[in-house]
Amino acid sequence: MLFQTIGTIGAGPVARAVARHAAEAGHPVRVSNNHGPDTLDDVIRTIGPGASAVSFDDAVATDIVLLAAPFVAVPAIGRRLDDWTGRVVVDMTNQFAEMNPYRGFAAVSPLTGSEWVAQHLPGATVIKAFNAMFADRTAAEPRHEEGAQVVFFAGDDAPAKADFAELVAGFGFAPIDLGGLREGGGLMQLGGALNGKHFLLQK
Ligand SMILES: NC(=O)c1ccc[n+]([C@@H]2O[C@H](COP(=O)([O-])OP(=O)(O)OC[C@H]3O[C@@H](n4cnc5c(N)ncnc54)[C@H](OP(=O)(O)O)[C@@H]3O)[C@@H](O)[C@H]2O)c1
Repeated sequence: MLFQTIGTIGAGPVARAVARHAAEAGHPVRVSNNHGPDTLDDVIRTIGPGASAVSFDDAVATDIVLLAAPFVAVPAIGRRLDDWTGRVVVDMTNQFAEMNPYRGFAAVSPLTGSEWVAQHLPGATVIKAFNAMFADRTAAEPRHEEGAQVVFFAGDDAPAKADFAELVAGFGFAPIDLGGLREGGGLMQLGGALNGKHFLLQK
């Protein structure tokens, strides 16, 4: 297993959902947000033992980083590091054009949303995942009588994807590889055939 420590950029419902599964599976989880670690006491309590509130720099110094912030915040987040080389980032964003509230569709054509995110994180290995599911479904127990909750994922780095699949299988999910950030990301992003749909992989 390549990925042990897990960081988050963002501490909203979707980050908390994945973080809780990771902590329950025994991974150290380092959570960051925009307002700073002092504001994360309640979030850390919600995630449970194994979670800690950290700075952005400490969150991105982990083995795999969950990018769970608004899509429109990605350029500013990307600028916080000169070079993202060696970082594996899970893009959990949906490409809303505006936040507070989320609305509209940010047009980044001909790129998919995750290709655009990857451009703003120069050097990072980007895997798209968890964006297509509602956070409450992600938070729920993934193991069901009939089968396991499917987590679709996409990316252009096969070894990183294999390790990601092993990681989330360890949380109890059924990972399914949809290919690269172009084709798979397109299916998963807002407006894609799989966005907002939830599946079980039957036994
Ligand atoms: N909610 C869902 O069901 C769901 C499902 C799938 C995907 N998504 C996507 O996941 C992402 C997060 O959504 P969410 O609903 O979980 O969270 P959210 O409630 O929108 O919270 C966003 C989080 O991002 C942080 N943040 C904002 N700007 C930042 C910056 N410049 N640097 C670092 N952190 C920053 C915020 O920090 P503060 O707390 O300090 O403000 C907050 O913790 C969005 O792209 C959304 O479209 C959401």
